[in-house]
Amino acid sequence: MSNLEQTLSIIKPDAVERNLENEIKEIFKNKSFSILREKKIQIEKSEAEKFYKVHATKPFYNDLCTYLSSGPIIVMVLEKDNAVIANRELMGATNPNDADEGTIRKKYGISIDKNSVHGSDSVENAKIEIDFFFKD
Ligand code: CMP
Repeated sequence: MSNLEQTLSIIKPDAVERNLENEIKEIFKNKSFSILREKKIQIEKSEAEKFYKVHATKPFYNDLCTYLSSGPIIVMVLEKDNAVIANRELMGATNPNDADEGTIRKKYGISIDKNSVHGSDSVENAKIEIDFFFKD
């Protein structure tokens, strides 16, 4: 039975800066994700703080928000069967050092902060995150 889902993906500043946008999009397309919406933006630190508010109590929160707002990012709505888990598998572990071969973070990630991509961690959060960037 099919279970079509949407998830939010962000190509982070470290990857945009290295011109990896098209390469990373090709990886998603080759894995049968449809890119339903996309835009290149730079956000304010205050917006990054809202986006990552679930991490507000974490020691890395401030650096994380400074980083996400430090340069252009690509935000995308990806769709496929079981998109949330499929995207998380394709991204690999949060820390690129722990990521499996063949994953985006293994291939492009520089550090736990500069880990090239973000993806929603649940269907519920995917809806919240898609709304955050694409509320019309
Ligand atoms: P992301 O999937 O975008 O979600 C939160 C981000 O916080 C995560 O990727 C990492 O880039 C960053 N981060 C920094 N330090 C940590 C940590 N110790 N544990 C989890 N995430 C971290």
